[in-house]
Amino acid sequence: MRSTPFLKANLAALKTWQKSFDMDAAALVILTLLLGVLVILVAFAVGSRKPEIKEETEPGVEAAAADASSVKGATSKKQKQEKQQRSRKDKPTLHTFSHPLLAASLKGHNGKVTCLDFSSNGKYLASCADDRTVRIWSTKDFLDREHKCLRANVELDHALLVRFSPDSRAFITWLANGDTVRIFKMIKKDDGTFNFKAAPEDFPQKHKAAILNIGIAETGKFIMSASTDTNILIWDLKGDLLASINTNQMTNSYAAVSPCGRFVASCGFTPDVKVWEVCFAKGGEFKEVARAFDLKGHSAGVHSFAFSNDSHRMVTVSKDGTWKLWNTNVEYKKQQDPYLLKTVPCTSSDGSRIALSPDGRVVAISSGCDVAMFDATSGKLEEELHGVHSEQITDLRFDINGRFLVSSGDKAIRVFHNAPGYRAAIRDMNDLLKKAQNEAMKQRLQQQIKEAQSALDSALAAPAN
Ligand SMILES: *[C@@H]1O[C@H](CO)[C@@H](O)[C@H](O)[C@H]1NC(C)=O
Repeated sequence: MRSTPFLKANLAALKTWQKSFDMDAAALVILTLLLGVLVILVAFAVGSRKPEIKEETEPGVEAAAADASSVKGATSKKQKQEKQQRSRKDKPTLHTFSHPLLAASLKGHNGKVTCLDFSSNGKYLASCADDRTVRIWSTKDFLDREHKCLRANVELDHALLVRFSPDSRAFITWLANGDTVRIFKMIKKDDGTFNFKAAPEDFPQKHKAAILNIGIAETGKFIMSASTDTNILIWDLKGDLLASINTNQMTNSYAAVSPCGRFVASCGFTPDVKVWEVCFAKGGEFKEVARAFDLKGHSAGVHSFAFSNDSHRMVTVSKDGTWKLWNTNVEYKKQQDPYLLKTVPCTSSDGSRIALSPDGRVVAISSGCDVAMFDATSGKLEEELHGVHSEQITDLRFDINGRFLVSSGDKAIRVFHNAPGYRAAIRDMNDLLKKAQNEAMKQRLQQQIKEAQSALDSALAAPAN
């Protein structure tokens, strides 16, 4: 890639040559010479990359050897293949990143973090990595110097995905090698820390393609798993299958359960995002999965989507080069359709993730190793975070209070102050203040604006830990 400007310059030179000369013998000779230079340049660029690749394999090989001994020879063929793939990706040098909005970098994992989830009580952040552990971080010490975490071991496997149960006392994982769901209970000890205990049995293996996402409904009524084919499975909490959904989208690129626990949605190769309601009878027994509504408007496949915390808003990011904000607070049973509120151009790529702050004010989108933050109301690009991770971003989420945005993509977890969220809240309160009629209301708003402003100021003044 480093040779690109060189190549471009040479190509431009070639074009100029082509214009000013007739294709006579002299020009041909010069062209040939230039092409020769190009070939040498390309060969040189390719050649100079080789040592880098060699360096990268070494730590991976060591890690593979260490892992193999810890499994006591139980390494399957699939695991070996994964190790080889991983070892090629492992970077020996530590990726450094700094930004005024960076609140903390959570370090503890010895492998690539693939998934993040906040507990609904707001106290914990769970992360999982290919180092065979799930870590539970305390959100209240994000701004402290030290970030302690509790560690749950995933025996003979590693978790690709992790989601907290609605009561924040258990979490579900997707096992990379087991290709299924394993539930862990968090048993509180007297000292306030936890023991982690895996359920005696994993769920049965049912997916035939790579996993995309899992979720538990906030109602505690079902678990969802979705794979890259067109399959979404709905399970009860014991691991019995309730339903199987064919999304008919050629391939799925993302799927998720809505925060209200009523809906499951999916996107993929086709431009529409599809939303289903998982219906239960009054007595609590599963009834059916029914089509609820579609988000229609993108002109190409959709990379991913997200809900606001009350499920009244959704955002989508598409290959068509835009993100869209939708009002989904509709009575679809009375034939009301969700409607489009905003379309904004943005950078995206395969694997792009999108997050919507709980209050619906801020949209964050990842593309490769970068993150962009937009004001949801105005569509204005508020912040650009470049090279947040050394590899493609795997997950992007706001905490439940909308104070922080977290991301994963390598061994570290980045925690950012949601400055655009503070600014949008202050702006909205100022608008209310202008309209406020009575004195008590005005004073309350003024107080709230002052508080939000000082929270923002101190967030930006504090150095990252
Ligand atoms: C959503 O988030 C906002 C802002 O953090 C909060 O005031 C509200 O209570 C939350 N609503 C739900 C349903 O969790």
